[in-house]
Amino acid sequence: MLSGGRGFVLQQPAKVAIIGGGGTVGSSAAFRLAGLGVASEIVLIDARENMARSHAMDLEQAAAELGPTYVRAGTWEDLRDCGVVVLSASLPERNVASRDEYLTGNLGIVREAAGYLAAHCPRAVVIVATNPVDVFTAALARLTGMDERRFLGYSWNDTLRFRWAVARTLGEAVADVGGLVLGEHGEMQVPLFDRITVRSRPVELTQEQQREVEISTRSWFSTYQGLQSGRTSGWTSAVGIARIVEAVTTGRGDPLPGSAVLEGEYGVSGVSLGVPVRLGPGGVAEIIELELTPSQLASFQAAADKVRSLLDSVFRGHWAEQREVR
Ligand code: LAC
Repeated sequence: MLSGGRGFVLQQPAKVAIIGGGGTVGSSAAFRLAGLGVASEIVLIDARENMARSHAMDLEQAAAELGPTYVRAGTWEDLRDCGVVVLSASLPERNVASRDEYLTGNLGIVREAAGYLAAHCPRAVVIVATNPVDVFTAALARLTGMDERRFLGYSWNDTLRFRWAVARTLGEAVADVGGLVLGEHGEMQVPLFDRITVRSRPVELTQEQQREVEISTRSWFSTYQGLQSGRTSGWTSAVGIARIVEAVTTGRGDPLPGSAVLEGEYGVSGVSLGVPVRLGPGGVAEIIELELTPSQLASFQAAADKVRSLLDSVFRGHWAEQREVR
């Protein structure tokens, strides 16, 4: 047993690979993971080998203060024996109106990763942060033939942003604000305004306050893209990804938001959408079905229809081939 940071005991010595480890999200996640002591080893895999090696050489020395995690650059073969894989590789950030615009451009990366995941680590838990996250989470389950519960799309940033916007509107510290966003990691997200808490006590926002929060959260993506900084939300994503790896590695069952492949939950099947889940060493241990209002459920199912149409648009031909093969 390895003892991780913050005093918990790792259930299993987790070797973690980050596909896209030379990029903003991947390298930030590596830094956060190394600081948490959640992994015994982190392998950075990236098409830009120089970037993977640059971050690995840097993190190796940071380990003097960060803790015992061994960080190195690696290749696809290093996926072997990984307990957790993070897929964050993506086309370079550009000023797009929607994450959907990365669909065709990132498809090649996802297909390539699928082959290596199935070949080298079919029992790994895979955290999918490559956009559009919901489409690629279900797609990877199908392309790899791995158990779909081993895949979790990274969409926690929606909930973190919702909490931030509510805290700003209420004049509260964001750490004191509880909240949850379900649905698509994109325009069709479903914020649950009836489940907001401040210091664990339910709080009801006025219509005006709800509108303010909606505007803040829905405009965030376009505002951020408009900066044309060439980076994405590395720090927010790193915090959430590390918490997910921690939950998988320790088996600690605190519910958290993520995109999971649904099979009837919330009246949806065959697509991956943001829902509250409990995680464990096998990935999604439980999909938690909340009681939604009719309006929330309708929005959730509309998001499912959108994600399904995107999934079919790029994979229709492929599924037909696969069905023939099976
Ligand atoms: C975000 C990107 C990672 O929402 O999709 O931060």
